[in-house]
Amino acid sequence: MSAREFAKDQPDSFAFSAENEETIKAIIAKYPDGKQASAVIPLLDLAQRQNDNWIPVKAMEAIAERLDMAKIRVMEVATFYTMFNLAPVGKYFLQACTTTPCWLRGSDQVMKCVHDKLGLHGHYETTDDGMFTLLEVECLGACVNAPILQVNDDFYEDLDYEKTAELLDALKRGEAPPVGSLAGRNKSESSAGATTLAQMRPAAGED
Ligand code: FES
Repeated sequence: MSAREFAKDQPDSFAFSAENEETIKAIIAKYPDGKQASAVIPLLDLAQRQNDNWIPVKAMEAIAERLDMAKIRVMEVATFYTMFNLAPVGKYFLQACTTTPCWLRGSDQVMKCVHDKLGLHGHYETTDDGMFTLLEVECLGACVNAPILQVNDDFYEDLDYEKTAELLDALKRGEAPPVGSLAGRNKSESSAGATTLAQMRPAAGED
């Protein structure tokens, strides 16, 4: 993966909302005195959610001050994890996994479909209408339902070219398709149905 860069256009200031200030107090209270730096990841997450899914430098500085950390330490964390965006992204932030299990299960077709339908290749490119940003990522930890496309916080699984196209069309219409397997399988169960402990499964309607 190539380098991630801070947005060139940065806001002059950042302040957490009053609601998030309360949340921050609760988060910091979970850690022993002197260990507040452990709250850096949840605070970065809060900042990102408050700021249209990306984290300005001013927010990192505010977090450093709040947690009594060097600014560079906060930046090190924010730049390490691809879950944190350092520049604006589209309304739908697509993270396409192309690591080996997803690749073996057809992630090339997912990427091809996103390119065909949206013209995106994979490194923080955004459509002209600001609707979609694509990032090619490493394993999303859901290999059993590969290939995976993460859309903002949600995982869409068991994709192929056609299912990816249907998903993107639904998102364009402003719809939010049910998350999980788009091949109709039950969570991460075998695609052939349950094969073990079948006698212990609840009868239909009981689970
Ligand atoms: S390899 Fe794609 S989720 Fe693990």
